[in-house]
Amino acid sequence: MAALKLLSSALRLGAAARSSRGALHKGCVCYFSVSTRHHTKFYTDPVDAVKDIPNGATLLVGGFGLCGIPENLIGALLKTGVKDLTAVSNNAGVDNFGLGLLLRSKQIKRMISSYVGENAEFERQFLSGELEVELTPQGTLAERIRAGGAGVPAFYTSTGYGTLVQEGGSPIKYNKDGSVAIASKPREVREFNGQHFILEEAITGDFALVKAWKADRAGNVIFRKSARNFNLPMCKAAGTTVVEVEEIVDIGSFAPEDIHIPKIYVHRLIKGEKYEKRIERLSLRKEGDGKAKSGKPGEDVRERIIKRAALEFEDGMYANLGIGIPLLASNFISPNMTVHLQSENGVLGLGPYPLKDEADADLINAGKETVTVLPGASFFSSDESFAMIRGGHVNLTMLGAMQVSKYGDLANWMIPGKMVKGMGGAMDLVSSSKTKVVVTMEHSAKGNAHKIMEKCTLPLTGKQCVNRIITEKGVFDVDKKNGLTLIELWEGLTVDDIKKSTGCDFAVSPNLMPMQQIST
Ligand SMILES: *[C@@H]1O[C@H](CO)[C@@H](O)[C@H](O)[C@H]1NC(C)=O
Ligand SMILES: *[C@@H]1O[C@H](CO)[C@@H](O)[C@H](O)[C@H]1NC(C)=O
Repeated sequence: MAALKLLSSALRLGAAARSSRGALHKGCVCYFSVSTRHHTKFYTDPVDAVKDIPNGATLLVGGFGLCGIPENLIGALLKTGVKDLTAVSNNAGVDNFGLGLLLRSKQIKRMISSYVGENAEFERQFLSGELEVELTPQGTLAERIRAGGAGVPAFYTSTGYGTLVQEGGSPIKYNKDGSVAIASKPREVREFNGQHFILEEAITGDFALVKAWKADRAGNVIFRKSARNFNLPMCKAAGTTVVEVEEIVDIGSFAPEDIHIPKIYVHRLIKGEKYEKRIERLSLRKEGDGKAKSGKPGEDVRERIIKRAALEFEDGMYANLGIGIPLLASNFISPNMTVHLQSENGVLGLGPYPLKDEADADLINAGKETVTVLPGASFFSSDESFAMIRGGHVNLTMLGAMQVSKYGDLANWMIPGKMVKGMGGAMDLVSSSKTKVVVTMEHSAKGNAHKIMEKCTLPLTGKQCVNRIITEKGVFDVDKKNGLTLIELWEGLTVDDIKKSTGCDFAVSPNLMPMQQIST
């Protein structure tokens, strides 16, 4: 009671001080009352919740792929017909769902995204000059939004150093004749402790459209499984945050320590009328699956690479695996070993694909496939996920490549002149010198063009970032000063064979071994 009195007199003092500056805050009693004097406004019609969004507004739209997208609010914007929007969203939905609907209705003027690969209408509008697209690495996008909400105007990151993101000149808008009308600006570079960083500016929105799981009647919000993603930082970075939820519950239904977004960030709330929760890539396992298949060794080029890649795992390791060969390699992790798989959309502790009746639209991996989690797993937001990645807390990143240079430059996100799908999280995943970066790929491209070469000809994903290359012909270690060393060679091949199919010189380890394969 005494404490309460003290506090209330402190508040009165505070109020007096404020009123003397002419900004009287009446009714301090609200701090102690359970009466519902809401800052958060509750709506029943989604059109009412968004009808004041004006033409030309900047919208932050939550979700990753189709997971955790504000379906009902997007539907309401189709009705209000608001135009010339700038939409900040990791993806652009698919042709006929999610933000794809607003693209189709031509309500979006500019997208700020990391990956737009799933949407054909998007590609058409971009290449014909109808749509502006600012591609931003996924972790940089998440952090720019986080910074915007936290009042930090800009920050330095190693992501994108030495790439088009830093150099500028990446097309944002095309002219009708295919020439570039607007190009991205170069970024300022600064060195800290001998490492290069680039300056990225914060993003804020006029409105945020967010999808959460539940809200209490005070306006506090929680998310479900991997549907937190970009929704969480976006809640904090807009003038007006509009949140749609599946359920509104009584105050106290979730404990204060379990709240993901405190009500202070939530200006408008609505219970969505219905949720389709479409699944982009339904991936299932059958009962009894999950054991590594064992074919004849070396039968298949891909399998050779997978079975070598599987030897990169160590007990207790945290690893982020690209879709394809790297993820398939995880099927061969021995049962006596624990490897914690991180997925950049906000999961630590990925399990196998779900059985048919376990598939859950709120639980996907970075490839938008349905997944499960193992005991001890955790979910978090995209800004948190990339803090983990950029901060070097993940031990291993394994991913594919189109080209790798002698000194470890990596190119795997863009072929100029062809459709650019975006870099997604790849630039962030290779940005920490504390994380081992292993590339798995076929040794040569179609027509025997070199993929391992003196200098990459394609736009880079990262500079001097690759530590090891695994192909069907052998394994190289990469040193950013001394170049390549061949450490393993596929049985039946000679060092000369490797020389012929490699576009640069390399050293041969005095301990050159036959290419290793995990035993199954
Ligand atoms: C993973 O990284 C952490 C922190 O950098 C380190 O302490 C740990 O030994 C690493 N674990 C493995 C298995 O490499
Ligand atoms: C795990 O099993 C493999 C064989 O599958 C064995 O070579 C290895 O030593 C085992 N590791 C531990 C930590 O028991």
